[in-house]
Amino acid sequence: MSDSHVFHRQLRQPLPTAVAGRGVHLIDSAGRRYLDASGGAAVSCLGHGHPDVLAAMHAQLDRLAYAHTSFFTTEVAEALADDLIAHAPSGMSHVYLVSGGSEAMEAALKMARQYFVEIGQPERRHFIARRQSYHGNTLGALAVGGNAWRRAQFAPLLMDVSHVSPCYEYRDRHADETPEAYGQRLVQELADTIERLGQQTVLAFVAETVGGATAGVLTPVPGYLRGVRELCDRHGILLILDEVMCGMGRTGTLHACQHDGVVPDLLAVAKGLGGGYQPIGAVLVQGRVVDAFRHGSGLFQHGHTYIGHAMACAAALAVQRVIRRDGLLERVRHLGQRLESGLRERLGEHPHVGDIRGRGLFWGIEWVQDKCSRRPLDPALKTHARLKAAAFARGLMIYPMGGTVDGLHGDHVLLAPPFVCSDQDIDTLIDFLAATAEDVFLT
Ligand SMILES: Cc1ncc(COP(=O)(O)O)c(C=O)c1O
Repeated sequence: MSDSHVFHRQLRQPLPTAVAGRGVHLIDSAGRRYLDASGGAAVSCLGHGHPDVLAAMHAQLDRLAYAHTSFFTTEVAEALADDLIAHAPSGMSHVYLVSGGSEAMEAALKMARQYFVEIGQPERRHFIARRQSYHGNTLGALAVGGNAWRRAQFAPLLMDVSHVSPCYEYRDRHADETPEAYGQRLVQELADTIERLGQQTVLAFVAETVGGATAGVLTPVPGYLRGVRELCDRHGILLILDEVMCGMGRTGTLHACQHDGVVPDLLAVAKGLGGGYQPIGAVLVQGRVVDAFRHGSGLFQHGHTYIGHAMACAAALAVQRVIRRDGLLERVRHLGQRLESGLRERLGEHPHVGDIRGRGLFWGIEWVQDKCSRRPLDPALKTHARLKAAAFARGLMIYPMGGTVDGLHGDHVLLAPPFVCSDQDIDTLIDFLAATAEDVFLT
């Protein structure tokens, strides 16, 4: 690794070399096996080496790998879009295909802006998003993102975005407040922000349906997203939901917003869309938004070289077909219940476990110094990183992050195992994780 020419994420930390992936395991060059309990970063929903996805990719490769989208459409891109729209929330009519989550969010942001230009409201220019959110690392996505640490050094390059509170029940709901009242308080905060900015200037509210990477899986309280939807409708503001991490079946419904009965105007997906077999993302778009483009300028002023890539579409289509054929959404719900009860049983009373939260196969554990006061651990301890290292040493992949509370304080780990896990795999995951907690907190 010291003589590697790859500009790795961390330049001082050696990495093992992954050489194979089989089912729910990755295998390194020393022959060590790792249970992929996080699907990388909530990506590998079908695990590794799924034969049906590989066969679909081989078949596509033999036909056509790539055709630029300014010259051609392809059968496979059309088939994927048909498939996604057939199972989309109501009113969605088109799919804008990109190569990942950040690209999906960039496309959604620009689509929102151009939509208002098309319909003669060019004065709309403000995005409102939430603190502790993550929407990607490109400049537009980073600007709407609300993680203070990630934004800090790039702040001079970022567009001005207003951030409101996340839906973070564990820390922010008052003891004498119902979850519903807490949700309404958050909606009121958004309403106040819209009023402060001037409702005619606001483009869109941007939120992860279930907060993921930087917040450690924040599920919305009942009524919150519906309240947000109504507020956006009242002011003619678009609702952009980011389901790059929580979508495509991860929480037990194909789209996480279906659980809450809320339909966004633009819905960003990626990760589980292609399951890691190819880089792919997409924005699902409401028909009325598409109509504004169709009847207006007739083009979306955007695009990248690899949008709608045929190999990526083939992989994503195969992943979606396997999920349906094998009833994997039901499996996610079943495994999710097993995972939740195992986590609560084995870790619920742990003195450093503050909160266990999630839905389907998407779970976060927030670790604290003190269970009663919920005081976070000293950031200097880097507990999240120690948990990751200890788990990895045991052959378990979990996805950790620090700064859960405010970008600096707080530690969580995220679990997002493949939908094709066996019950036994879930039990092994819980055993390994409980042992990992012992390793970290007893040393
Ligand atoms: C909610 C959310 N949006 C956007 C992104 C960015 O996706 P990508 O890393 O594929 O660019 C992520 C990645 O973790 C994410 O979790």
